This record gives sequence, C-alpha cells and structure tokens, in this order.
Amino acid sequence: MASTTSGKIAEFRRLLANARSVLVLTGAGVSAESGVPTFRGSGGLWRQYRATDLATLTAFNRSPSLVWEFYHYRREVVRTKQPNKAHIALAEAEKRFEKEGKRFNVITQNVDGLHRKAGSKNLIEMHGNLFVVRCTSCNFIEENTSSPICESLRNRGLPDENGPEIDEKDLPHCRKCRSLLRPHIVWFGEQIWNDVLEKIEKEIQLCDLFLVVGTSSVVYPAAGYASLLSERSILVAEINIETTPSTSIANYHFHGPAAQILPQLLSTNVN
Ligand code: OAD
Ligand code: ZN
Repeated sequence: MASTTSGKIAEFRRLLANARSVLVLTGAGVSAESGVPTFRGSGGLWRQYRATDLATLTAFNRSPSLVWEFYHYRREVVRTKQPNKAHIALAEAEKRFEKEGKRFNVITQNVDGLHRKAGSKNLIEMHGNLFVVRCTSCNFIEENTSSPICESLRNRGLPDENGPEIDEKDLPHCRKCRSLLRPHIVWFGEQIWNDVLEKIEKEIQLCDLFLVVGTSSVVYPAAGYASLLSERSILVAEINIETTPSTSIANYHFHGPAAQILPQLLSTNVN
C-alpha cells in the first residue's frame, strides 16, 4: 500500500541509505519544471497535431518536411531549457553512490537531454535524444547540436505558421552517404533498440530499489517495470503530481513536483 505522509520521507531515506543498486525511471514530469511540456498534459499540441501523430515513421514517410519542422522546433525549444533541481539531485546522488561503491542508474523516457546536461553519466535514454540523428539508409548515428540543423529549417517549425513543404534534398543529410537523416528517437510503433533493452534488463536484474518519477506509466515497456520489480519484492517508490497505474504497486507514493520532492529524498543536507 502506497503511503503519502511526509514522515515517510525519513523512512524512505533510511532505506535508500542501505540500497546497493538504485534504479530510477523518469518521464516527462521530471522536466516539467524546466518548462518542457509533458506529452499528455496541456500544451501537448503542435499546430493541429498531437505529438503521437507526428512521432511515427508513417508521418515521416508521408512528409519528412513536416516531421523535421516539428523536431527542429522541439530542438530549438529544449535548447533554451536548463536542468531543474530534480535532474541535479539525481546527478549528485549518482556521484555520491559511486563514491561509496554503489550503483545508481537512470533510465529516462525523455528525449530532451536534460539529465545529460545536469551531469548524469549512468544514463539510458531509452527513447533516444533530440540532438542525435540517424541515417535512414546506412544507419550512421551521431550527435548533432547545430542550430538550425540545416539552413532550410531556419525560422521554420513555428507552432502557428504553416510554411511551404521543404524539398527533401534541403533537409538534413548523412555526411557519410548523403541519404536523408531522421531524429534518433523511438517513434510510436517502433521497437526499443536491442542494445538499450539489454542494458535495461541488466539494471532491472541488479536493482534493489526502484524510483519512478514523473511518468504517466502508460507507455510500454517502461510502464511495466514497476510491477515487474514489485513482483520480485523490490522496493518501489513513485513521485508524481497525480496517481498513475504504478501508484497502487508502489510501496511509497510521494505526491508533488519532482523538483521539490527528489532533493528531499536524495540529498545529504535536508533542512
Ligand atoms: P506523460 O506526459 O504521459 O506523463 C507525464 C507525467 O508526469 C504525468 O503522470 C504527470 O502527472 C507527471 N508530472 C507532471 N508534472 C510533474 C512534476 N512537476 N513532477 C512530477 N510529476 C509530474 O509523459 P511520459 O510518461 O514521459 O514516448 O510519457 C511516456 C512516453 O510517451 C514518452 O517518452 C513519449 C510519449 O509518447 C515517445 O516519444 C516514444
Ligand atoms: Zn548514411
């Protein structure tokens, strides 16, 4: 049964101090206080589209121009955002755990790169990253932080302005084989990459405390990790501003914004 009382924070901190391998799963809620809109909350629309309409291979094949405009816009928005106290608390906890010879890993569903920016190193970006591109032909993958990513996207992608289609030859291209690039992101209907799944599986095997932060727990496979671990009697704690399918599974539910709660749970100096 989940508990919400503030006295539980001290209890949780004692359990955390004894954990040998902490695994944290984060979702869009962890970046909410950095000003990055969540998927299912308000502000989820771009032009008349939901993210789920554009983040698909079908949409990209139909109009690479439209989908690149959408991702260009998201890259430009996220570029201006900074990690918040939740990202920072996680990055600091990782350093502290490592110093003590213990494991601390973050699996994120977010593609905004804010965990990296905060300094998290033991990080699995399971849905990819807005600033990584992949060739649609030779599969070459590389980080690309250019702004704009190509000249034809300069001043495009604004949510309230439809421009003419950009010719495919003017969209981002692979520097190895000149084919069209796409964002290195797991789109709806696509499988999580095998190497990533293997890393996640390893962490799930090793973990003895699981923290689920700011995710609606409806998108699989991530949505299934809490129940999987709970069935193995691993301690599960959730931080969210709402209840989710993980709430009833969690041993602890901390109700509130991640940027407020995570530092209380993880930092050494609590006042
Ligand atoms: P959602 O938008 O579905 O859920 C965000 C969750 O964060 C909700 O449960 C909110 O209650 C919670 N939340 C909002 N603000 C918060 C705050 N300040 N502190 C704590 N919690 C807060 O986002 P995800 O669960 O991340 O997939 O969505 C999962 C995946 O679905 C995404 O990675 C994306 C999406 O479609 C792909 O792009 C493949
Ligand atoms: Zn290529």
